[in-house]
This record gives sequence, structure tokens and C-alpha cells, in this order.
Amino acid sequence: MDRYGVFGNPIGHSKSPQIHAMFAAQTGQALSYEPLLAPLDDFPAFARAFFRDGLGANVTVPFKEQAYLLADQLSERARRAGAVNTLKKLDDGRLLGDNTDGAGLVGDLIHSGVALAGQRILLLGAGGAVRGVLEPLLAHKPAALIIANRTPGKAEQLAHEFAELGALAACGFEQLGEPVDLIINGTSASLGGELPPLPDSLVVAGRTFCYDMMYGATPTPFCRWATALGAQARDGLGMLVEQAAEAFELWRGVRPDTAPVLAELRRQLSAG
Ligand code: ATR
Repeated sequence: MDRYGVFGNPIGHSKSPQIHAMFAAQTGQALSYEPLLAPLDDFPAFARAFFRDGLGANVTVPFKEQAYLLADQLSERARRAGAVNTLKKLDDGRLLGDNTDGAGLVGDLIHSGVALAGQRILLLGAGGAVRGVLEPLLAHKPAALIIANRTPGKAEQLAHEFAELGALAACGFEQLGEPVDLIINGTSASLGGELPPLPDSLVVAGRTFCYDMMYGATPTPFCRWATALGAQARDGLGMLVEQAAEAFELWRGVRPDTAPVLAELRRQLSAG
């Protein structure tokens, strides 16, 4: 059986085995996909051992930067992201590193009916999650992309690095005020049940679409904040399914239908 899996630590909570099992059943592909608990102090040896017979793997926290270093060849989007979430063994045995997170976000936004071209987009956060989505978002030619972060210097650094790809600006949260069409929360604040400290000057209304890269069984603090202000809100469960579909296509050459898989995951999540 063709062998795939997902490296992480911890890994027990990962939904990827379930998602890929549903993709495989739907597309009639015979493959196995397992959770792979990699040791924190020896990811490279563990990953190399898996790839003696494994064909591909996803990579999650905290190994995306190490997977970037492990890959023998990088896709352009992985190189820009500085992180790898998908590894594929090439015919000659070398490992290709790709990053499908940004395409996953863009795919889910498009499925949600959100336009990107010509729009004003605000990205909250300046860590790995935001770095990974900058290039795919800029590829859709927004009118403006503003990166706001608690530590403004990190936002400025990112804006500087990606400046050649499009119209980018950077600031701290206090400077926010101008209305935008789309707000994407890429901070890890939701993990601690927190909301980024957004100022009242930030205009949010019915036409603002708010997207949290995080998700949960109940609406995230950011989604609750957006809904309370009358904006549309969506969490990152769809991004998770879309990034998985991109990886599946890279490995198998077949594009799964994400809608029924997302609906099933949502059903299970709400059922607890
Ligand atoms: P990830 O890989 O998930 O992006 P990271 O690289 O550690 O993780 O980045 C976390 C991001 O969330 C950062 O932008 C961080 O802001 P700082 O750069 O100022 O540290 C942001 N963040 C985390 N907790 C936050 C909170 N409670 N409020 C606002 N921003 C927060």
C-alpha cells in the first residue's frame, strides 16, 4: 500500500489522517495515511527513516522550518514561506518540499465567495502562519495588503521582504482605522482564547469579511468579535481541508472534492 502520513509533535489531535482517508475513498486511491509522532530532538532522522518506503508526508507544528531545511528541492512558494508543510519523494529518491497553506487559505476564501483582486486586505500577525500566505494572497492582486502585528517591527520586516510582490504596508494594531474589505487573523491569539487587541478605530461593518486561520468546536474569539460587529465570519477549518487537497493532488495527481469532506468535519466538530 502506498504510504503517507503527517509529522508533528504532538500529533494525536491531527485531523489530517481522517481528511486524507476521506479523499482516498472518494477518489478511489489505494493508500495509507498515518499520524507520525516525530521526536522533538531528531526530526531529520525520523523523517528520513519514514521516506525509506513512504511516498509523501504533511508536516505540522513544530517541524515546518526543519522540513524546509530537510527538503532537497523546494517549490517557489515553500521557499518564500520559509516553511514546508508537504513533502513528496521524487522518482530519484530526493525530497521535494512544498507549502500548500497559502493556497489552502486562498482556495477556501474563493469557495466562500470572497473576492481578492482589487480589495483591501488586513492581515493580523507576522509569524510563520502569515509569512506562509503572503505570496498566494499577493498573487491575486489586492489593492492593498496591510500587515498589522503586536510587535510592529516584525510586520515591517515581512513587508520589506515581500515588497517586490505587491502593494504591502505594515503597522501596529493602534494605527488601524481605514476600512478594509477582508480581515484575516493569522495571530495565534485564538489558541489562548484571546483576541488580538484591535482598536475601536478599526471600522468593521456588514460588508467586511473576517477570516480566522484557527478553528474550534465553537466560534473562535475573533469570529465572535466579527459577528458581534455585524461582519461575516468564517474560521479556518476550510483552509485545513483545502491545504490537504493541494497536498493530495501533488502526491496523487487527482484533485479531491473538498465540500463533502469539510461538511463531515464540521458535523463531527459541532457534535463534539
Ligand atoms: P505561527 O507560526 O502560528 O504564526 P508565531 O510565528 O509564533 O506562530 O507567530 C505568532 C503570531 O501571533 C505573532 O504575530 C504574535 O505577535 P508578536 O509577533 O507580537 O509576538 C501573534 N500573537 C500571539 N498571541 C497574540 C495575542 N494575544 N495578541 C496579539 N497577537 C498575538
